[in-house]
Amino acid sequence: MSKDVLASIKNKTAVVGVLGLGYVGLPLVRAFTQGGLRSIGFDVDPVKVHKLHAGKSYIKHIPSSYIQDLLKQGLFEATTDFSRLVECDALIICVPTPLTKNRDPDMTYVVATAEAIAKHLRPGQLVVLESTTYPGTTREVVLPALEKSGLKVGKEFLLAYSPEREDPGRVDFDTHTIPKVVGGYDPRSLEAAAALYNHAVTTVVPVSSCEVAEAAKILENCYRCINIAMINEMKIILDRMGIDVWEVIAAAKTKPFGFHAFYPGPGLGGHCIPIDPFYLSWKAKRYDVTARFIELAGELNVAMPYYVIGKVADVLNLKGKAIRGSRILVLGLAYKKDVDDLRESPSIILIEQLKHRGAKVDYNDPFIPTTHKQREHDLGMKSVPLTPANLKKYDLVLISTDHTQYDYDMIVQHAKAVVDSRNATANVKRGRSKITKA
Ligand SMILES: NC(=O)c1ccc[n+]([C@@H]2O[C@H](COP(=O)([O-])OP(=O)(O)OC[C@H]3O[C@@H](n4cnc5c(N)ncnc54)[C@H](O)[C@@H]3O)[C@@H](O)[C@H]2O)c1
Repeated sequence: MSKDVLASIKNKTAVVGVLGLGYVGLPLVRAFTQGGLRSIGFDVDPVKVHKLHAGKSYIKHIPSSYIQDLLKQGLFEATTDFSRLVECDALIICVPTPLTKNRDPDMTYVVATAEAIAKHLRPGQLVVLESTTYPGTTREVVLPALEKSGLKVGKEFLLAYSPEREDPGRVDFDTHTIPKVVGGYDPRSLEAAAALYNHAVTTVVPVSSCEVAEAAKILENCYRCINIAMINEMKIILDRMGIDVWEVIAAAKTKPFGFHAFYPGPGLGGHCIPIDPFYLSWKAKRYDVTARFIELAGELNVAMPYYVIGKVADVLNLKGKAIRGSRILVLGLAYKKDVDDLRESPSIILIEQLKHRGAKVDYNDPFIPTTHKQREHDLGMKSVPLTPANLKKYDLVLISTDHTQYDYDMIVQHAKAVVDSRNATANVKRGRSKITKA
């Protein structure tokens, strides 16, 4: 190697390039600059880069002051100019890994980024993939794209995988304090990548290969996906028996060992849990193995919005109304509380399906004033104000996301009927007869 990347990492002269400045990339940049390393953020979206230069954040839980601090510190800049990749000693890929329409892994972003790196790759660089993906991606997809540069891994550049465990909106852990699993293509790659992340996070967890690190992330997400599916199924079973699943969970979790509480909801959302397990089930097929738990969990979770719509239909039916022609207000568009991220949000399916059945649907979300076009969906809607007068106009209010700032007493007081898919109204005392849990 022309330049000893490990030495530059150790003496903090290494420059870190982060490719993809989204929910994962932006906090990562901060973790590195806080660790004293100069960082350059690369993104294909000029609007994001422009906003960053202006000191403005585009992610709700990342305040603009955070970006301004980064700029003041003088250790960060953002660019769309990929020729500047040569200035970096380490390059970290944080780009999306969605599913195609047929629910197969969509590697186009990862491949495009690796190919962009290959055009500028120079001897002595360390490349790390952080995007969540199936075991084998770093070696089978990223490496061949990088070697189009003519440089050889292990000899002229180093390669590693380290999964991101970001949980947007979480306050007890952040990028700095969440332990970071790192797997290297070879021992030198592992040593360099572990040394790099040691500047950014409190605990580095080295593992024996990129594949182990890739599989660890998928295991974590399968664990959540399957347990959420199990509790969603439990909700349906207990509801038929007239038993409140949330009360049952509260009782069960008093067991001090052997039980971890998961909560039901209107379906799975977000960039990770509804998607990542299918990366593994797709890859498993190549080995003549069927990932039955994952497929079953997917089936159960995908059906949840339709279960909630069934509850909405039941409540309207009791009032002598049909979904067709009813006015319905959906509360919360984000996939989980207190974030502004609507990727894969079950609220979108709920709104689309209610409209499809002839309902007149509005939504309120304090964090999403208007909907933007997504790959698969385009609601073209605006958040309506959440006022007593407005609430009264609707035949039914459907709580899809339990944002903390909602005044649930006020909502129940002024709504004609409430379908609550999150148990958000648990502490509401007055008007309980209007509430149906779903
Ligand atoms: N959001 C989360 O909470 C979370 C948590 C853990 C892991 N992940 C994983 O991290 C990865 C990134 O997710 P995210 O939520 O940050 O996505 P995101 O959509 O918020 O950000 C991705 C960014 O990459 C940019 N981009 C796309 N193509 C690019 C390219 N060729 N070169 C440079 N930039 C490019 C986009 O413009 C965008 O700004 C995914 O694999 C995801 O599964 C996400």
